[in-house]
Amino acid sequence: MRDAPQEKLVIDDQAVGVFRVNRRAFTEAEYLEAERRQIFEHCWIYAGHESEVPNAGDYRSRRVAGRPVIIARGDDGVVRVLLNTCTHRGALVCRAEAGNAKTFQCPYHAWTFNTRGELIGVPGEESYSEAFDRKEFTLGKAPRMETYRGFIFVSFNPRGQGLNEYLAGATEYLDLVCDQSEAGMKIVAGTQAYSIRANWKLLVENSIDGYHGLPTHLRYFNFLQESGGMPQGHPRQRNKALDLGNGHSVIEYDSPFGRPIARWVPAFGELAKARIEATYERLQERFGVERANRICHTGRNLAIFPNLVINDIMAVTVRNFFPLAPDYMEVSAWALAPADETAEDAALRLDNFLTFLGPGGFATPDDVEMLESCQRGFANREVGWSDISRGMRRERPKTDDELQMRTFWRRWNELINPPRSRRAQKAA
Ligand code: FES
Ligand SMILES: [Fe+2]
Repeated sequence: MRDAPQEKLVIDDQAVGVFRVNRRAFTEAEYLEAERRQIFEHCWIYAGHESEVPNAGDYRSRRVAGRPVIIARGDDGVVRVLLNTCTHRGALVCRAEAGNAKTFQCPYHAWTFNTRGELIGVPGEESYSEAFDRKEFTLGKAPRMETYRGFIFVSFNPRGQGLNEYLAGATEYLDLVCDQSEAGMKIVAGTQAYSIRANWKLLVENSIDGYHGLPTHLRYFNFLQESGGMPQGHPRQRNKALDLGNGHSVIEYDSPFGRPIARWVPAFGELAKARIEATYERLQERFGVERANRICHTGRNLAIFPNLVINDIMAVTVRNFFPLAPDYMEVSAWALAPADETAEDAALRLDNFLTFLGPGGFATPDDVEMLESCQRGFANREVGWSDISRGMRRERPKTDDELQMRTFWRRWNELINPPRSRRAQKAA
């Protein structure tokens, strides 16, 4: 039976419109431990994208839910998520971040595994008894692995919902991102890797927070205005926040910035205009006006519980992050782009991407500063609660409301403090 925290962590009073989060959820090691067991070991967790390992033998090693893993495309063409620990005595069998390999050889005693994870070489094997069977020493795998349109997820929980069911309403928004290109989407080479001295849940909140856009990123919006980066002649009507089920949420809005997919702005230059209009027309033929407008002209910030963010904004960023301590997380972010884009389009997209996103962009350093500032502020334990009630009584919540964060916190609270245990606590 799972342990439940003894204190109230979320106040959710829908009748009066009050939603508060106990700041100890951001600072206490006991909650990080509960998150490890009850969230990261329980939910579907994003591991990578199939396009990152396009050829047989391609691999990426990274940490997923606190575990070192290898995403490898075997010589049979099958993508697997292998647990990066030698079945002999534990060492990491793959130490490089990425590459193409025929085998993985453990550096400790040189056991060798093929790209399917099978043990194929043991130095001095004759010294083992007859009980020694190579088949028992295949590299471990995550109990479950499934993909959705190229996005690879793993679950360390052998039971529970399948990925599609888990993603719930988030699939509609993943589709809007993936439908940008008939050729499919790919992760662009290169990773933005950085760390933040703040609790990981602050980055979930921040990634879908329309309220902070202007005050925190005023510099960026001034820059856009001065450099022809704002779209002209498109009314800005769409503006909504949605609970997509299972803790996932999205904000969707008419984009205030150019989108290389098909929302032209003067800063993209006249040359790009014809290409962008052609893309829009093609999408209109494929999907009709309404869906083409959504794909091209609206932006969306999508949070898939617990720690995957896909922001389809002035470019598409795929970001996940894991806590190492209550006040420290590691972030990895990638650019997602149409698999068939030309070099010119890639340059435009990456320029747009890097201007705003990433550790050297206009936005990310400001966001990091705000998150670290919140975490420093939490040292004042006398102020015990954060307020997340904005727009709570509004029938159609907007992007600068906080419905999307409440959606996350409600699911978080269910998993950390399950209802059954709450009833038991009450009875006790
Ligand atoms: S720990 Fe890998 S070969 Fe010994
Ligand atoms: Fe931001």
